[in-house]
Amino acid sequence: MRLIIYTGKGGVGKTSASAATAYKLSKMGYRTLLMSTDSAHSLGDSIDVDLGPTIEHVAWNFDALEIDIIHEMRTRWSDIQQYISSFMTSQGMGDISAEEMAIFPGMEMVSALFYVNTFNKSGEYDVIVMDTAPTGETLRLLSFPDVSSWYLDRGFGLIKKLLGIARMTVGKVMDMPLPSNDVMNSIEEVKRNMDEVRDILEDPRKTTVRLVLNPERMVIRETMRAYTYLCLYNKNVEALVVNRVIPEDAGGFLEDKLKEQSRYMQKIHEAFDPMRIMTCPMMKTELRGLEKLELMADLIYGDDDPYRVYSDGSPMSFETVDGVDCLYMKMPFVSTSDVELFRIDPTTLMIHVGSQKRNIQLPDTLISAELLGAEFKDDKLVIRFRR
Ligand SMILES: Nc1ncnc2c1ncn2[C@@H]1O[C@H](COP(=O)(O)OP(=O)(O)O)[C@@H](O)[C@H]1O
Ligand SMILES: [Mg+2]
Repeated sequence: MRLIIYTGKGGVGKTSASAATAYKLSKMGYRTLLMSTDSAHSLGDSIDVDLGPTIEHVAWNFDALEIDIIHEMRTRWSDIQQYISSFMTSQGMGDISAEEMAIFPGMEMVSALFYVNTFNKSGEYDVIVMDTAPTGETLRLLSFPDVSSWYLDRGFGLIKKLLGIARMTVGKVMDMPLPSNDVMNSIEEVKRNMDEVRDILEDPRKTTVRLVLNPERMVIRETMRAYTYLCLYNKNVEALVVNRVIPEDAGGFLEDKLKEQSRYMQKIHEAFDPMRIMTCPMMKTELRGLEKLELMADLIYGDDDPYRVYSDGSPMSFETVDGVDCLYMKMPFVSTSDVELFRIDPTTLMIHVGSQKRNIQLPDTLISAELLGAEFKDDKLVIRFRR
């Protein structure tokens, strides 16, 4: 199964590009699921179909789903939700309903990742096209499997120990309800799922990210930042979709705008070449419904098959040179002064870049290795270890 994730700044055309891609894929014969993790849902509007909280069959080979977090809370997360609610009651904070829990950030994405894992196993779909919330949130959430498994490994182990002791003694720890076996199983399942999902997300031939942007200054900057962070999280960013490009022959009063646009297009190339850059013109009519989306997909992809992986290089790799182990991380648009490294325990290396951080689980061979240092080589951060 392929997973194609579209992300980018708000309003650039993520939803339209995802829907267009998914529809084209379905018509080409791929069993396709179009899924939105943006709580401000507009997928239904875009394809002009009413979508419910469960998977909707839209057309031949074409299913769609807007993750409905309240529905997810009541079904997938009910054990954990009920435990948190009883925990809060026990602490005198009053209980919390599924609706209230639903505002926890990130729940859409976690639920979406559960679907991805399920369908990756069942083989029901050839491809899932994921439409996401604007960049910031999506980045945080794509790092979730990474972060959550680190916390769960440590926190969960502790809870388990406490539970072992508490169950043998009074059945209560500091007046708080103990998580039941169901809750513990649910947490265990979250952890297992997130570990599996991380493998899917970090497989550069399976999961790829396409960044949608417009030829505008602020949008380009945010896209460059997003690219850096996605590399930090080991996601294969393979293509750019430059949307709302004013056609060259527009002329007239758009002359100045066109000049500006060509400067921005040049900037995009300078920043992202040799990445695959696709464009889609600004359309004159309302971009809504399958017919229009098909047109958009043809404008973006031409004769290309959107299923293909445009570049299969993983942003992260290991190599041993003269007895020194090197970890390479593609990190475009940053300099040494933006990066901080911490070895937080023998197995975990924490990398800070700007406001983002990532914990890297080192391979067994490097657990006891000495961290020699790090430097930039072209757009790659090279971290050196000696065993
Ligand atoms: N190439 C385009 N030409 C004309 N309108 C577009 C184009 N791309 C997107 N739009 C319109 O712009 C609005 C925002 O697009 P959308 O895909 O919802 O962006 P996002 O999901 O990034 O917020 C929608 O009304 C959409 O129909
Ligand atoms: Mg959208």
